[in-house]
Amino acid sequence: MQQSWVEVDVRALEHNLRLLRQRLAPGAALMPVLKSEAYGHGLVAVGRRARADGVNWFAVAYLHEALALRPVVGAAHILILGAVEPADLPLLVRHNLLPSVVDEEHARALDAAAGALGVRLPVHLKLDTGMGRLGFVWSEAGQVLPRVARLPHLDLQGLGSHFAAVEPDDPDRAGRQLERFLQARVLLERQLGRRLFAHISSSRAFLHLPGGQLDGVRIGILLFGYGAGAFAEQLPLQPALQWKTRVIQVKTVPADFPVGYYSTWRTAAPTDLATIALGYADGYLRVLSNKGYVLIRGRRCPVVGRVSMNWITVDCGPASGVRAGDEVVLLGRQGDAEVWADELAGLCGTIAYEILTSIASRLERRYPGDSQI
Ligand SMILES: Cc1ncc(COP(=O)(O)O)c(C=O)c1O
Repeated sequence: MQQSWVEVDVRALEHNLRLLRQRLAPGAALMPVLKSEAYGHGLVAVGRRARADGVNWFAVAYLHEALALRPVVGAAHILILGAVEPADLPLLVRHNLLPSVVDEEHARALDAAAGALGVRLPVHLKLDTGMGRLGFVWSEAGQVLPRVARLPHLDLQGLGSHFAAVEPDDPDRAGRQLERFLQARVLLERQLGRRLFAHISSSRAFLHLPGGQLDGVRIGILLFGYGAGAFAEQLPLQPALQWKTRVIQVKTVPADFPVGYYSTWRTAAPTDLATIALGYADGYLRVLSNKGYVLIRGRRCPVVGRVSMNWITVDCGPASGVRAGDEVVLLGRQGDAEVWADELAGLCGTIAYEILTSIASRLERRYPGDSQI
């Protein structure tokens, strides 16, 4: 039995879905981004739940994620955001998955593989409008896209891009990307004589750039209850994931007692130290050494000493009453006390995304109160 586990509040996910839908432009599809095990929440469980809620589009990064998702989302569209290998084409076709085509060489290789299989492969083209990551470079789109559109075994159905930054005080930056994207869309649609399914926005653009919703919005972090920022009042999302473990040992120690590798912390006065079975190998980032907090008996207890691979020590204070077996909350709520991924991210100099996706996927995910999962 593993000593730490993750609890996902399915009602929080449903609540978030409902709020997000209320902000969707008419005709725009909500496309939950469920890569990295649905940001640590569990790909299959979240996919099944979102599908039961009527979601008809999903996005993942890799083929293996799409294959895991397919059985639980029926006939919903599954878009693979990364570049699939031509050798995997039979799997794409068999499971009705939509790949992203990232450049002309990739397009030709997929076209040849589709030709060899005797199929016309539905694809989305990915345009790099300024992210500098995957996709056809926008400045070459005018020459390259018309050639790609003529490849006989690719059925161009959609066009996607990704914003590098959506900053309300520098709207031109995202504006330029949107403009490049819309130009490419017009060019392709004219050549093809039909509409393409266009998507460029993820969570931040969904909040700050309502004109960027187009045919669909690829939303990740907001679905999981983070990232609303200045919109938190209008959009009271709920974090859905709690991470818990139990105290495995408590010791009452005197002042000047050393804790952890290299004794980077010493007690200032007699206190109760609790050891919990979890460390950086489980995804509790080592930079939280002498910085993090956990909740025990409804109180915040600081992480003291270095986070080690499998154990951490926390200071419960004198006469704490803490006992081996007590529940510990690493992320979540206990009584009136709370600690969430955005707070830990602030302590670590990172983002909630990294905190959530670092939680080891081998830890058990529980879905209390969800009969479907
Ligand atoms: C291409 C792409 N689209 C959408 C998303 C979802 O982003 P967010 O979680 O900020 O909504 C990501 C996440 O990294 C992404 O890489």
